[in-house]
Amino acid sequence: MNRTLNVSYDDVLLKPQYSDITSRSQIDISVELSNNINLSLPVIASPMDTISESKMAAAMSNSGGMAIVHRYNTISEQVGLITSAHHYTETTPLYGAAVGISGDYLERASELINAGVRVLCVDVAHGHHILMKGALENLRALPNIEDVHIMAGNVATLEGINDLADWGADSVRCNIGGGSICSTRIQTGHGMPGLQTIFECAKTDRDVKIVADGGIKNSGDIVKALAAGADIVMVGSLLAGTHETPGNIIKDGEGHAWKEYRGMASKEAQMEWRGKYSSFEGVASRVPYRGPVADVLNDLEKGIRSGFSYSGARNLTELHAKAEFLLQSSSGLSESRTHISTRNW
Ligand code: XMP
Repeated sequence: MNRTLNVSYDDVLLKPQYSDITSRSQIDISVELSNNINLSLPVIASPMDTISESKMAAAMSNSGGMAIVHRYNTISEQVGLITSAHHYTETTPLYGAAVGISGDYLERASELINAGVRVLCVDVAHGHHILMKGALENLRALPNIEDVHIMAGNVATLEGINDLADWGADSVRCNIGGGSICSTRIQTGHGMPGLQTIFECAKTDRDVKIVADGGIKNSGDIVKALAAGADIVMVGSLLAGTHETPGNIIKDGEGHAWKEYRGMASKEAQMEWRGKYSSFEGVASRVPYRGPVADVLNDLEKGIRSGFSYSGARNLTELHAKAEFLLQSSSGLSESRTHISTRNW
């Protein structure tokens, strides 16, 4: 496929290929983020206040993935979220936590590392920015940073990922404004279709991991993101509404159960964490309550393994090498979606 088209997830399909894989257990979907950090499930929970706190951090770690605990709190509150996650974890935990690029971020980073965080995520909406350069350089100079993986973002271009890698990032979150709760593209006119961002960023010649972030709706999109060159995906809406997300279950008048899911640049989120709002580039919504996140992750893992098998790929390296994308028309997309007409039984 011509990879210069501005495609997003629904515009393409992966071509099914010959496979000699006889069992999906032969497929290794793990990813090595750094020498000392391996994830058996290539999924990271977003640093959002309706997604990642203690329970999500523990559940993601128990399932082989990771959560990035959000930064919309005081340093002691965020550290408390990490330490209380230890009560819930089954094995050696793998936690990530977010910091910003100004204010208390250096002290926050140090405290988080001391609390056991192994992945620091320098978390800003427009990461290809001079303040990011300074933040990465300062974080790299911290005395206790040596074994910590530094993730940074978000960017939408090859220049962006290259600069962040040169400034000190080990991995970069790629995609601007593509998330389910985002309104950045509407509000600012800027962005790039999500899968195209991955194709672009995958051209990097730097030693940096690519995190496909936002707009991923199902396991098929995860396989497409990985096939396009990502090493791992970051998801919010796919985990929203699960038991381990922060916040209470909300019952409506008809007895349906919901949980809140909101963009961190939404008016509602900004008002709550800093008592005012500037440009709002996200929305707040409710999603159906969905029970334990482990069940959702289990289904995603099965879908990802099956996806690798359709490309005849035993691991991520083989998927990157073998994947062939095709464009699909709008009638192709309708055909791809479940389309049986409903009837009453
Ligand atoms: P999904 O599609 O998984 O997206 O729900 C989650 C990702 O969306 C980003 N994010 C935002 N982007 N305005 C934005 O433009 C926001 O308010 C906002 N909040 C989160 C973030 O990258 C997250 O991982």
